[in-house]
Amino acid sequence: MIGRLNHVAIAVPDLEAASAMYRDALGGTVTEPVNLPDHGVTVVFVELDNSKIELLHPYGDDSPIQTFLDRNPAGGMHHVCYEVSDIFAARDRLKAQGARVLGDGEPKTGAHDKPVLFLHPKDFAGTLVELEQV
Ligand code: CO
Repeated sequence: MIGRLNHVAIAVPDLEAASAMYRDALGGTVTEPVNLPDHGVTVVFVELDNSKIELLHPYGDDSPIQTFLDRNPAGGMHHVCYEVSDIFAARDRLKAQGARVLGDGEPKTGAHDKPVLFLHPKDFAGTLVELEQV
């Protein structure tokens, strides 16, 4: 069911410093920051040949990323995102297997203007999983 790895997301306390590290030290192609108020995040993408790294920074007062950074002040891996061809079929299959879908269970529009869902980390080896329909 899952297809390509779309991105790995890393929460960072200093977006400029993290962008510079990926651009200057690692020599990556780094996008400009984009604010996503609906998700409470500012994102920068590092474009890789085979995938992307999504650098996440809190935006606004009620960001889920702030909660993560309070527990992990140096930042850390936040989630992995796998591509699926039909997000409703994927959701229904996962629910039938007992997996928990976060939020109200309905896909939301993600950072790439595509429908996404998040799955409970306790059901996936301690890792927050995002599914994106491509
Ligand atoms: Co993501």
